[in-house]
Amino acid sequence: MPLIAFASPKGGVGKTTLAAHVAALLAQRGHRVLALDLDPQNALRLQFGLPMRDEAGFLGEIEHRPLWRQAAVESGYGVRVLPYGMVDPLTALETTQALHAEPELLAGPVREMLADPDQVIIVDSPPGPTPAMGAILPLVDLLVVVLLADAASAAQIPVVASNRWLGRGRLAARAGDKAVVVLNQVDLDAPLGSAVFDGAAEALGTRLVGAVCRDEAVAEALADKRMLLDPRDGPAAEDLRAVADAIAARLRLAPPGSQAKRRGSFSALSDWGLR
Ligand SMILES: Nc1ncnc2c1ncn2[C@@H]1O[C@H](COP(=O)(O)OP(=O)(O)O)[C@@H](O)[C@H]1O
Ligand SMILES: [Mg+2]
Repeated sequence: MPLIAFASPKGGVGKTTLAAHVAALLAQRGHRVLALDLDPQNALRLQFGLPMRDEAGFLGEIEHRPLWRQAAVESGYGVRVLPYGMVDPLTALETTQALHAEPELLAGPVREMLADPDQVIIVDSPPGPTPAMGAILPLVDLLVVVLLADAASAAQIPVVASNRWLGRGRLAARAGDKAVVVLNQVDLDAPLGSAVFDGAAEALGTRLVGAVCRDEAVAEALADKRMLLDPRDGPAAEDLRAVADAIAARLRLAPPGSQAKRRGSFSALSDWGLR
């Protein structure tokens, strides 16, 4: 626990970038993190610098009921990664159909992952609502919807605010108030960026949990097999850290160990009537 899923009605908005950075930043805070890729693009592994030659994965092979502990790959960031796997488009389609027919294929293993109370699970997903997302949505603690600060994303804000982008039925209802929004590639100096930001803030209120500025350093870091985990890495690095902090605060995620420290018995406190 908990399960944090990154999703969006749109592609190319920064879901994978945000999922990977939040995973690595939570690991940096001392959490044990498992990152699960639901996207046949299989791009999450690139963020973690996993070797291209390693084509094995988890969701792409879900019909064969792989064991998630065996499929998990250690990354250098203190995050264990469950890549989608390199599969051909037909297999990806068959996987989608299998999950539509039997959501438990994925929900079962994810429930097992969640049984570990000290493990944070981060999910990256393809654009739009998918059967894989439908399978895990009842288990999700926070659904982070990523949008850009552009006109096409602005048009999506009302349907994101109402969760209608997940459909009219069960999926949308299940998302409830677990859905929050992060705006990515924001340029507050540009009239459009600033107008979309203001509109989103008004429509979403406290459900807008963060904004990440447009910064070439993000794409350059990926090309360099690095992540921006130090606030000195630039403005986007600072924003990404703020997003991770906001998510941790929203879920009341205390760094492991801090609870134990706080939970001292302090016997005198009860004598003084303080406990
Ligand atoms: N804040 C940002 N500033 C500049 N480039 C970004 C930013 N966020 C993401 N990118 C770049 O945008 C592209 C799409 O991001 P990605 O995370 O792959 O989106 P998605 O997973 O939604 O398809 C990538 O090349 C990524 O490096
Ligand atoms: Mg992606």
